Amino acid sequence: MYQSFILALLRNPRQMGAVFPSGQSLARAMATAANPSGKRILEIGPGTGAITEALLAEGASREQLCLLERDDKLAAYLTGKFPDIRVVNGDARAIATSIQPNADATFDIVISSLPLLNLKAVDKITILEQIFAMLGHQGLLIQYTYSAKAPISPLLANRFGVKGERAAIIFRNLPPASVWKYSYPRNDDLQH
Ligand SMILES: C[S@@+](CC[C@H](N)C(=O)[O-])C[C@H]1O[C@@H](n2cnc3c(N)ncnc32)[C@H](O)[C@@H]1O
Repeated sequence: MYQSFILALLRNPRQMGAVFPSGQSLARAMATAANPSGKRILEIGPGTGAITEALLAEGASREQLCLLERDDKLAAYLTGKFPDIRVVNGDARAIATSIQPNADATFDIVISSLPLLNLKAVDKITILEQIFAMLGHQGLLIQYTYSAKAPISPLLANRFGVKGERAAIIFRNLPPASVWKYSYPRNDDLQH
């Protein structure tokens, strides 16, 4: 697993955005935040599949899980590791095109390991626009970051009409990480 990650890091350090795969504590915190049982989940940037494994351990259904990974070799690695999960070798900047061929493109949750804070503003906006359009008003985006700041600035979250909350801080990860959840405000939130 580490070898696949390191090779991907050497191929494209900016795209990887981390020097280690997600540790178990972080992966578990992401899966707990997702509460994945019975949900249709798109995982973006699964890398070596640490979070995928945690999602499965937390009760995610293999049939309802889809992995979108841009790196060809990591995508092939994931296909070998999870033969009964749909792995799409594609780019989050074109989610619709990457996922659409199988038609069932609606998800309850997007769980992302994308290095959002490393992305060019234009790419970040393109990706987030598609994620929030695809999720609809009941949906949830879960994203981790190694930064003390939110992975999506309050200004940008506002632009998409979503609210962010820090769901967990994982001091035991290297480096320490925070898990953030983004969702549309519920009606009762709007009344206050
Ligand atoms: C921080 S690493 C993921 C670490 C992963 N959680 C693990 O434990 O291995 C970020 C991942 O996002 C993928 N990625 C980066 N940009 C992407 C994009 N535009 N579309 C899809 N995947 C992308 C990278 O190839 C990499 O696998």
